[in-house]
Amino acid sequence: MKLTMGKTLQVPDVVTVPYIEGDGVGPEITPVAQNVVNAAVTKAYSGTRAIEWMEVLAGGKSHDLTGEWLPAETLQTFKDYLIGVKGPLTTPVGGGIRSLNVALRQDLDLYACVRPVRWFKGVESPVKEPHKVNATIFRENTEDVYAGIEWEARSPEAKHFGDFLSNEMGVTKVRFPGTSAYGVKPVSEEGSKRLVKAAAEYAVAHGLTKVTLVHKGNIMKFTEGGFRKWGYEVLSEYPQLEANDVIADAFLQNALLKPEAYQIVATCNLNGDYISDQLAAQVGGIGIAPGANINYMSGHAIFEATHGTAPDIAGKNQANPSSLILSSCMMLEYLGWGEAAKLIESAMESVFSARMATIDLARFMAGGKALGTAEFGEVLIERM
Ligand code: NAI
Repeated sequence: MKLTMGKTLQVPDVVTVPYIEGDGVGPEITPVAQNVVNAAVTKAYSGTRAIEWMEVLAGGKSHDLTGEWLPAETLQTFKDYLIGVKGPLTTPVGGGIRSLNVALRQDLDLYACVRPVRWFKGVESPVKEPHKVNATIFRENTEDVYAGIEWEARSPEAKHFGDFLSNEMGVTKVRFPGTSAYGVKPVSEEGSKRLVKAAAEYAVAHGLTKVTLVHKGNIMKFTEGGFRKWGYEVLSEYPQLEANDVIADAFLQNALLKPEAYQIVATCNLNGDYISDQLAAQVGGIGIAPGANINYMSGHAIFEATHGTAPDIAGKNQANPSSLILSSCMMLEYLGWGEAAKLIESAMESVFSARMATIDLARFMAGGKALGTAEFGEVLIERM
């Protein structure tokens, strides 16, 4: 059954979820994640709710079967069914082909990249107190220097743009105009406000109290400064939340020195890219970090493995399925099926605490026992 979006998301008891299996380790981690999710949903709701998985094609598998990297039918299915799960995709090499991830984000206008970062007991981390990190990052996903508006140095377009700046805009600050490449950083009021609103609503829904705007508005006064200003305008509508802001470089220090100060972080696209990887590294979780790209207004959302296709270990039953499993937990929460998500997270805590994990994590655990991809999934299900 399809989800529908009214004032809120309407969720039937049996939800059809289109999924992209993914390339490389995708065929190994995807079935494991699905089995874990199915087991949790059955257990949490005694069989009264279920996910019906429906495969759609994208990436290398799609190219082999249809000659297309991202068939129009796949996009249409995601549009119709609102949500989806995505394994890692081979990025096609060669001119003129958009990154598949970027294409999905743009075509479905998935404006919020949501990355919850927490520590799991038992997972080795490079910092002394990883348990103090427990934050969710809301990264703006459609604007900023990621909009892809740039021109190569010495190209006719760069020359034209440089001439426009100096002749029509009176710009005299370009140090080497003859050899400069140019990029454009659009940051809009609508784009900033919808992202910060999503962060605030998430905070309220999860019983959290603080939202921090991270920006470089001290230097980029109108773009990042605009984000800060519009962000505060939105947050002023949530008197129950404590709103503050911090400059991005200070944030990166603070995140190491006092990570417990942050609950929800809302930020522009490029800052969000750096911040989410730093925080994930602090909990030793860069390889297991979950992520989702969401449009809270239309309801469209894609939950994804945040790592790549790991071609070096593909086919060896070594890949860690945790990123895709935890992203699927985000999907369960999005559906309002938080009980099933909790079952999976608790099982994961229990398995890591017992020093069992796939080899990427087990090799750093004192006395760690390495499990294969499939076995890790089975142990998780046993412990639910
Ligand atoms: P990668 O993430 O695939 O691999 C980097 C390292 O992490 C490798 O040593 C790999 O074995 C390890 N690794 C990754 N996922 C793992 C897992 N689940 N369990 C255990 N170890 C894991 O990044 P790389 O090598 O730069 O990219 C390979 C391909 O993936 C490229 O085609 C790239 O474009 C694509 N890619 C796709 C992404 C996506 O679909 N979201 C994201 C990043 C890369």
